[in-house]
Amino acid sequence: MDTPFPIQILTLFPEFFDSPLKTSLTGKAIDRGHFEVGVSDIRDFATDKHNKCDDLPYGGGAGMVMKPEPLVGALEDAREKLPKAPRILLTPQGEPFDQTIARQLADEPGIILTCGRYEGVDERVRQHWIDRELSIGDYVLTGGEVAAMVVVDAVTRLLPGVLGNQNSVADESFCDDTLEYAQYTRPRSFRGHDVPDVLLSGHHEKIEQWRRENSRRRTEKRRPDLLDE
Ligand code: ADE
Repeated sequence: MDTPFPIQILTLFPEFFDSPLKTSLTGKAIDRGHFEVGVSDIRDFATDKHNKCDDLPYGGGAGMVMKPEPLVGALEDAREKLPKAPRILLTPQGEPFDQTIARQLADEPGIILTCGRYEGVDERVRQHWIDRELSIGDYVLTGGEVAAMVVVDAVTRLLPGVLGNQNSVADESFCDDTLEYAQYTRPRSFRGHDVPDVLLSGHHEKIEQWRRENSRRRTEKRRPDLLDE
């Protein structure tokens, strides 16, 4: 793969990614060659005749654990394709994914995203074949696929050329640790609710000032934790 930013996703459910990778900005950016996504079916790397990818946990207990052989096979194959890309595991035990990490990953030569399933993956895989673990939030999903798609979306929109207008990345929420200001479009009055006068004034300084103030107040009220940082 020699696109500017190759991504390899390792999953037991490759079909999950069909539609999101075709849709909207993501689909267009792939068509234009800004990045490339390969999807590996972990099952293709199973080593037994039943293509088994999970097994009972040693020590007993509920649920199944992803077996090391298929997963490591898929990880080694991805490593060959993308030798310099960090190998990331999506798991609720990972570090919390945020805009700072999205920016870090956009600076990598590509990424390998491994989607965990069942009750988890064999610990030896995590320890020896994974570089970084990420969680998209404090809740448990049925697997890492949705989380991997979140990472793909947040990272690729930061790549050069993916968004038409680079200002929209610079301007937005989380760039300066505040939430975005309120936005309005036509009509000027909608069912008795009016657009703030200052936005219609054409006075750029006053508009800037209003937006800064609106953004600060919003952040104070909704996400004071962002200001503490
Ligand atoms: N897999 C299951 N839950 C997850 C989460 N919150 N983040 C990342 N991967 C997950």
